Amino acid sequence: MDINNFEEYLKEIEQTTLDSKAVLEEFRLKYLGKKGIIPALFSKMKEVPGELKKDFGARVNEIKVKAEEKIEAVKEQIEALELKKQSADLDLSLEGAPFSAGSLHPLTIIRNRMVDIFSKLGFVVAEDIEIVDDWHNFSALNMPEDHPARDMQDTFFIRKDPDIVLRTHTSSVQVRVMQNQKPPIRTISPGRVYRKDSDATHAPNFHQIEGLFIDKDVSFADLKQTLFYFVQEMFGKDIEVRFRPSYFPFTEPSAEMDIKWKKINHETGKEEASWMEILGCGMVDPAVLENCGINPQEYSGFAFGIGVERITMVKYKIPDIRLFYENDLRFLKQFAGEI
Ligand code: DAH
Repeated sequence: MDINNFEEYLKEIEQTTLDSKAVLEEFRLKYLGKKGIIPALFSKMKEVPGELKKDFGARVNEIKVKAEEKIEAVKEQIEALELKKQSADLDLSLEGAPFSAGSLHPLTIIRNRMVDIFSKLGFVVAEDIEIVDDWHNFSALNMPEDHPARDMQDTFFIRKDPDIVLRTHTSSVQVRVMQNQKPPIRTISPGRVYRKDSDATHAPNFHQIEGLFIDKDVSFADLKQTLFYFVQEMFGKDIEVRFRPSYFPFTEPSAEMDIKWKKINHETGKEEASWMEILGCGMVDPAVLENCGINPQEYSGFAFGIGVERITMVKYKIPDIRLFYENDLRFLKQFAGEI
């Protein structure tokens, strides 16, 4: 074709049917390839007389743009057709690849259940931070500096003087609650706590639920009844418990509660019954009420701190606390489906 046949080129570009990728590629090479029509036309530019160069260039360019547009449009059409064909081949009734749904960690299951039980008695959840100052973890709870009771809880320090610690118990939350709320108070505080301690029944990072009840005329009988209700809801009416007198600086009198549980002795393969301490409790010491701005002449109350790991171990007969933190699917899968 001659240079003057611009119209012919344009017509051909417009009219050629390109119905496959191969034909399309042929067309592309014919016009735009190195030895194609368009490069050939451009190379003829030098033969065109000066005054016609501009017009010539513009027309070649027009052919080039038209060819490119055609290629792009046809390519899109072909791809859309291919996609349509693929989805026609798709069998939506085929089973998908199996995947395992996650499930709740046993500690979460039991924590939730504990919160549910106490909410039936009107306790509401109050949460707080895990890195606390000395006042919230110790001093406000009747443990001034150098108090020997501080040694009961091996503490992780973030900073010294002034002391900032990883809370050793959720009792720090009761301080904040009493400072910020007016009685009657009925809160329960689940959360992580930290102590330098590690064996089959102790972990450096474990979970507690702190309970706090402050009102007029609250008695030790109320405390006992609340905790009995809790263990019976959790473990059933036959659960055996015992209260032991104990000491906590922030309660007077204080007690600990043990429950009878059976665990499997892996050496003998037999179930063995033994007592396990699950909580500390007592009547809130008047000095603590005072520290937190509550008048002990007017109000009294009780508090308790329950170990979530301990409850879970008893509930599911888990012999070693470390199993909770290893993320071993063989262990965790046993709790799938529990809520
Ligand atoms: N904070 C105690 C601990 O971690 C547990 C505890 C005992 C909490 C008595 C209480 C309480 O609220 O009244 O060992």
